[in-house]
Amino acid sequence: MTTSGPLFIPAILGTPRQGRMSEHVAHFLLGELTKRDGIETVLIDVRTLSFSITDAGEALKDAQFSATIMLADALVLVVPEYNHGYPGLLKHVLDTNLKEYIHKAVGICGVSAGGFGGTRVIQNLLPVMRELGLVTIFWDGNFSTVQNLFDASGRLQDPAYLKRTDKFLKELVWMAKVLRYGRENVPRE
Ligand SMILES: Cc1cc2nc3c(=O)[nH]c(=O)nc-3n(C[C@H](O)[C@H](O)[C@H](O)COP(=O)(O)O)c2cc1C
Repeated sequence: MTTSGPLFIPAILGTPRQGRMSEHVAHFLLGELTKRDGIETVLIDVRTLSFSITDAGEALKDAQFSATIMLADALVLVVPEYNHGYPGLLKHVLDTNLKEYIHKAVGICGVSAGGFGGTRVIQNLLPVMRELGLVTIFWDGNFSTVQNLFDASGRLQDPAYLKRTDKFLKELVWMAKVLRYGRENVPRE
C-alpha cells in the first residue's frame, strides 16, 4: 500500500462462540467501512483460523493471516466482553504476529450483553495493543445490550450507532493515514 492508494482496514471478529452477537457488529462495521471511498476491507473471523493450541506466539504463523496483517494500514477489532476480559482465542490469534502490527492503527469495538458496551474489555486490551506495536485511537465502539441492537437478520435497530461509528471510523482513518505517511517517509533512527 502506498500513501496515495486505498487504505486497507480489515475487521477481526474476535470470538468463535456459537450464536455470537458480535458477528452482527462485525458485519455492520464491515458495511460502514465498505461504504467509504478509499477504504478496502475484509473480515477476519477467528473461528476460521485454525491455530494449534499446543504452541503459542510467532511459532504459529498462518501465512495468509500474517500477509493480510502485513498489508493492513489499520485494524478494527470486534471484541465481546467475557468476564470483563477478551476471548482467549483472540489473544492466541493476535500473538502469532508481531512485526506485522508495528505502527499500524487499531480501533476497538467492545460488545456486551450488559450496559457498559464492553468498556472493561477495551481497557484490558489497550496494554496488549501497545505491546504488539499497534497505535490506539481515542474513540471506541461500545455496543451495549447487543441482544437488542440487531434484528434476527442482523439489521441495526438503533440509528444512533451510525453517527457514533462514523466518528470512530473518521478517527481511525486519520490515524491510519498519519501512520502510513510515517512508515513510508519518516526514517526510524
Ligand atoms: C464466557 C462469557 C462471559 C461473559 N461475560 C460478560 C461480561 O463480563 N459482561 C457483559 O456485559 N457480558 C458478558 N457476557 C455476555 C456477552 O457480552 C454477550 O454474549 C454478548 O452477546 C457479546 O458476546 P457474543 O459475541 O459471544 O454474543 C459473557 C458471555 C460469555 C460467553
